[in-house]
Amino acid sequence: MNIRTMSRRIVDGARDVSLRVPPRPRPLTASPPNGLKAVPGERGLPLAGHLLGGLLDAPALQMQLYRRHGAVSWTHAFGMRAIMVAGAEATHAVMLNKDQSFANDLGRFFEPFFHRGLLLLDFDEHFAHRRLMNVAFTRARLARYTEIVTTVSADEVTKWPAGEQVLAYPAVKQLSLDLIAEIFMTGSLGAERTRLLDAMLDCTDGRLAAIRLPMPGGKYRAGVRGRQALQQYYRNAIAERRSRPRDDFLSTMISAGFDDDDIVNHMIFLIMAGHDTTATTAATAVYHLGKNPEWQQRAREESLARGDAALDLVGLEKLTTLDLVVKEALRLTAPVPSLMRKSVKDTEIAGFFIPKDHLIMVCDGVNHHLEEFWTDPAIFDPSRFAAPRREDNSHRMAWIPFGAGVHKCIGINLGTIQLVGMLDALVRRFSWTLPQDYEIPWGQPSLPYPVDGLPVTFRPM
Ligand code: HEM
Repeated sequence: MNIRTMSRRIVDGARDVSLRVPPRPRPLTASPPNGLKAVPGERGLPLAGHLLGGLLDAPALQMQLYRRHGAVSWTHAFGMRAIMVAGAEATHAVMLNKDQSFANDLGRFFEPFFHRGLLLLDFDEHFAHRRLMNVAFTRARLARYTEIVTTVSADEVTKWPAGEQVLAYPAVKQLSLDLIAEIFMTGSLGAERTRLLDAMLDCTDGRLAAIRLPMPGGKYRAGVRGRQALQQYYRNAIAERRSRPRDDFLSTMISAGFDDDDIVNHMIFLIMAGHDTTATTAATAVYHLGKNPEWQQRAREESLARGDAALDLVGLEKLTTLDLVVKEALRLTAPVPSLMRKSVKDTEIAGFFIPKDHLIMVCDGVNHHLEEFWTDPAIFDPSRFAAPRREDNSHRMAWIPFGAGVHKCIGINLGTIQLVGMLDALVRRFSWTLPQDYEIPWGQPSLPYPVDGLPVTFRPM
């Protein structure tokens, strides 16, 4: 798929924002037990409540609820009551989940497309699967993925049109898809490549379908078909690897001891989890580097200092400027703006009574902008993450773009490698600036993305 096709797909996809109506939870009681407080909140607009899209994604709305009601508040969106959680203590209680009061609540959004992906498993079963999957993320494996990331990135950016305006978001999205395909499907896909990348996008978009029925031409049906194509691909690939193991991610999953069904389910979740998040973050970084040329130049000098040597894991870890830039990009625009859970028993969060069966939404992006943790939170200032400032250490829950607790992103290192590898290839080959009065227009049907595609002119170095 080229950058233009990708651009069209992104614009079309944004039109179909999801809405699913879950079963009604028990009412929030006005007189909670055991001296606990009742959760304050607001319905939002009559009937509509706060639009689900806004609730899920709009950092401004989440911040407004936090400022108005505090760390724990309730609100409504089309019949769905959600308990919004932010701030140090309340976030900590949900994320650490000490008495197992909270389970994942993604099935309603992610089934059937991401059936039994790691994030959709809970408690003992989740623990067992996560332990097995860790073998695919050892340092030795990461070193291998780094070779793939840096080779593919350096090669792909040479194909970007230099000196003319391109839409940077579709471009980085395509690059992150290429990286995911190389790592999780392993090159040599031949003619199948385009079909499988399309299936991957259809499956990812399927979760946003407004109508959850397989109607002709609908997003849901395309998603189900995408999932079927990926299942078929992985079943064949697993059979092939079982007879002839390779030095790749899939063979590592087989050697970890998963059965075929589990491998298929995990792989399909991993390809979704590993590409959209990196595309959003790469776009955020391109934007801020375009508005802060001194940081771009600093990153370029570090990257050029290695001459023509290939970038391996050790070299990548020395690119401290890009590492700081990526951290700051993740802080300013959290790619996963709400971490969703469900209360599986009556419980409490920071002294507030939470009845069973409520949707809980932890707003990591709110924590990323609180003055109690960050100096001038709205300003792009990567050095806040460097010693001696280390503002990210102000609280365990201050910087959580990868989540926290048992479900903390298993791809945290791989995601960082992808981002630093992509940006390294970019700053070595191009320079770019963005007008100071340009503000990225974030759209958020699911993960944040620039609705204008982020127009940038990349000038050859
Ligand atoms: C910038 C890049 C990334 C960001 C910001 C990100 C963010 C997150 C977040 C916030 C969670 C926790 C969700 C929750 O608790 O509800 C998570 C979990 C997860 N992520 Fe990532 N992710 C990134 C890259 C990746 C990559 C590259 C992979 C694939 C290797 C990946 C695979 C996963 C998986 C499998 C989980 C579930 C972990 C579990 O349940 O134990 N992520 N990610």
